[in-house]
Amino acid sequence: MNDQKRTPKDSSTGEEKKKINRRDFLQGAATAPVLGLFGYALYKQQSYEKAQKAALLNSKPVPSGLSDINVALLGVGAQGDVLLNAMLKIPGLKFRAVCDIWTDFNLKKAVNLLGKYKHTVNAYEDYREMLDKEKGLDAVVIATPDFWHAQHTIDCLKAGLHVYCEKEMSNTLEGARKMVQARNETGKLLQIGHQRRSHPKYIHCYEKVIQETKMLGRIATVSGQWNRAVQPDIGWPEKYAMPTDRLKKFGFQNMHQFRNWRWYKGLGGGPIVDLGSHQIDIYSWYLGSNPISVMASGGTDYYEPKTHEWYDTAMVVYEYDTPQGRARAFYQTQTTNSANGYFECFMGDQGTLVISEAGGRGSAYREKSAPAWDEWVQKGYISAPKVLETPAAGSVALDVRETVPADEHKIPVELYDPYHKPHLENFFNAVRGNEKLNCPAEIGYETAVAVLKVNEAIEAGRKLTFDPKEFIL
Ligand SMILES: NC(=O)c1ccc[n+]([C@@H]2O[C@H](COP(=O)([O-])OP(=O)(O)OC[C@H]3O[C@@H](n4cnc5c(N)ncnc54)[C@H](O)[C@@H]3O)[C@@H](O)[C@H]2O)c1
Repeated sequence: MNDQKRTPKDSSTGEEKKKINRRDFLQGAATAPVLGLFGYALYKQQSYEKAQKAALLNSKPVPSGLSDINVALLGVGAQGDVLLNAMLKIPGLKFRAVCDIWTDFNLKKAVNLLGKYKHTVNAYEDYREMLDKEKGLDAVVIATPDFWHAQHTIDCLKAGLHVYCEKEMSNTLEGARKMVQARNETGKLLQIGHQRRSHPKYIHCYEKVIQETKMLGRIATVSGQWNRAVQPDIGWPEKYAMPTDRLKKFGFQNMHQFRNWRWYKGLGGGPIVDLGSHQIDIYSWYLGSNPISVMASGGTDYYEPKTHEWYDTAMVVYEYDTPQGRARAFYQTQTTNSANGYFECFMGDQGTLVISEAGGRGSAYREKSAPAWDEWVQKGYISAPKVLETPAAGSVALDVRETVPADEHKIPVELYDPYHKPHLENFFNAVRGNEKLNCPAEIGYETAVAVLKVNEAIEAGRKLTFDPKEFIL
């Protein structure tokens, strides 16, 4: 990919974008109360479309075929490694540079892995040096701890790169807001790593189950969870421990904090941010609206609070005003028991959708009183029903009729690639000008607004409301 493509010289300048955004904000602030629910949802849809168009305008389309993209990696720890392994399966990527402060360990591992795949890369400890020296880069994939996202993303955008940044977009809303502003000013693409947005099963359910057929009927309640078994703190090989002064230079007090940053205030956001943000993002997507209030109970009930500053348990209730009416959504994450793993469950008056990123988990259940779903089965949107067995006459049977609808229809779409590959492909295809981003900065921002308020609500110990303006930049 040539350098020209990285310079936005087309009709939509950064300044114009700033104007569009200010106008959007003023419009949003003024119109949300008078438009009513439907109008507001429509307005949100239109402003989303507008932002997508604006982002695309700045990426000059490559008419067809595959052009090489020069890529750098910033942060190659656990998730950087997952992303790198997925990217190695995507054609047309030329890895040029890798940056990580854990030079003797993670940086070395990533460089060695890339070497095995014949990518000769330059290795850096300091991302600013990488941006100074690497002049031919098109895009960067950022997987550093959350508190670095804003600075890394903004500096990379300003250096002319398209950015894929892992979730949580930032550990602060101020950071997330500045990231959107930098995206608007530079006209570069900014994809946030909520990878379910590109997952074929989630797209299928959104398009067919939720939007086209509305087979669940009126969705008034949602629930979801990510329950994780007890895990020991993350350790490190002693011989690769970094000296304290070097750690401090990068914002970590010691090796424990460096390895377990997600539990520390000011660095991460705890399980509700780490795990919950993926699923709360789906709540808003499928319900077609952002929450209007949140209340939550949580705490560090099990782990040592000195090393687990953020809550190991959070139980959350959101309220939404959706285009269909009021909906309430429960979400739970706890880290002491893995019962039932992770999933989201949308409950309508005609059916239920249970969906999870986990392979093989996805079903729609028809309420007995709902019209038949044969048409959707014939169209292949859902599989033919598996009728749940009726207990034999005379046996001691649990009466499931009230709690389990009779028919289970499997969702016939699965992902056989690594979980993150479709989202990365979407990003690189957008860089080539061939697709719209599935999770552009403004969507990541809205999710950050919804999710970061949970920790606030736990601290406040009461219901907090969202002003619709909070979601609009
Ligand atoms: N989308 C997902 O499903 C998913 C899953 C896991 C993690 N994540 C996200 O990925 C990011 C990384 O998480 P992780 O689990 O890999 O953490 P990690 O601690 O394993 O890795 C972070 C890496 O960043 C490096 N680093 C830290 N500060 C740096 C700096 N200033 N400059 C350069 N390198 C720096 C560290 O040395 C380390 O190698 C987080 O934002 C996390 O929320 C997303």
